[in-house]
Amino acid sequence: MDKKRIGVLTGGGDCAGLNPAIKWVVKTALDDRLKRKRKIEYEVVGIRDGWKGLVQPEGDADAVAPRIYPLTEEMVRTWDRYGGTNLGTSRTNPYDPKNDRSKIVRENIERYRIDFLVAIGGEDTLGVAQKLYREGVKVVGIPKTIDKDLSGTDYTLGFETAVNVITEEIDRLRTTAGSHRRIFVVETMGRHAGWLALEGGESSGAYIILIPEYDFEIERVNELVLEGRRKGARYDIIVVAEGAKPSGCSEVVKEEGIDGFGHKVLGGIGDFLAKEIFQATKIETRGIILSHLQRGGAPCAYDRRMGRYFGIAAVDLIVREDFGKMVGYRNGKITAVPLEEAIAKLNVVDIHTQYDTERYNGRRTILET
Ligand code: F6P
Repeated sequence: MDKKRIGVLTGGGDCAGLNPAIKWVVKTALDDRLKRKRKIEYEVVGIRDGWKGLVQPEGDADAVAPRIYPLTEEMVRTWDRYGGTNLGTSRTNPYDPKNDRSKIVRENIERYRIDFLVAIGGEDTLGVAQKLYREGVKVVGIPKTIDKDLSGTDYTLGFETAVNVITEEIDRLRTTAGSHRRIFVVETMGRHAGWLALEGGESSGAYIILIPEYDFEIERVNELVLEGRRKGARYDIIVVAEGAKPSGCSEVVKEEGIDGFGHKVLGGIGDFLAKEIFQATKIETRGIILSHLQRGGAPCAYDRRMGRYFGIAAVDLIVREDFGKMVGYRNGKITAVPLEEAIAKLNVVDIHTQYDTERYNGRRTILET
């Protein structure tokens, strides 16, 4: 029987849901019953550390072992319970204009006899996958990012677990906030998309939610805080996305400089806002940055399930020889869209239908009247 090799890698920021997806790529590709039906036999190799694994497959000073190695059903049996990615990840961009190593990647794909590639990642990783596809590599993608900012899919792995973390942490903050009658400004990740702040804020019942898609006025935030206190609020939870900004200002950056994909490192708007609120209202206000806690921990049930479905669907695409596609979730169905479409533009919150620009919060009218 013809034997083909599938390589699987995870790239970009880690999150919960990656290990379930890897597990189900392996299990589906190696499944005995399916093998007989398909009349084709697959083997699966894991590629460690994202695209770095194809730039330096034999490893380097920081690699624990060679970066390309076989995965078996037995090895991945329990992986869906664990957060992060057991394959490791990196933000290596083989197409970095300052150091283009895409030719090396293509050569290594040949050298390691990788017939098909499954790339699990966000806009950056799938952007590389799309370029490789254009150059003849048979690749399929699986969407993951806690930012939920990829187009062509209603879901990206890691998002729901991150929303759960935000909700749990805010539940914790509420008791201490209430005891001290304080305001807590909770900063979430999300880059230029407000999904994490919006849905995390809605899930936890935050009083104010600030997102990158709508520049806020600090005076309006203060007004809302004082209005809440007049109505009897003992404390307030304000959720702010790392990419949100007051009108007329630019995003707050944690570090100067950009990564291999040209992204700024955002962070700090929460503390900035906490100071502004305290100055204007004299109410004790603290900033909390949830940071990488949002990406950590075991996948929630939804990410385990979606990782499973996406992993299975990715192998379905390979069996159908339908490359250059990303699996996704649309209107309750697992689907596939061209990678090109998935990365064409960021999927961000539509402030006209999903945000209340007066209350700075989620919508209070959902069904059209
Ligand atoms: O894209 C996912 C994400 O978690 C963003 O929300 C955040 O801005 C960024 O990655 C942080 O990246 P790093 O892990 O490199 O600090």
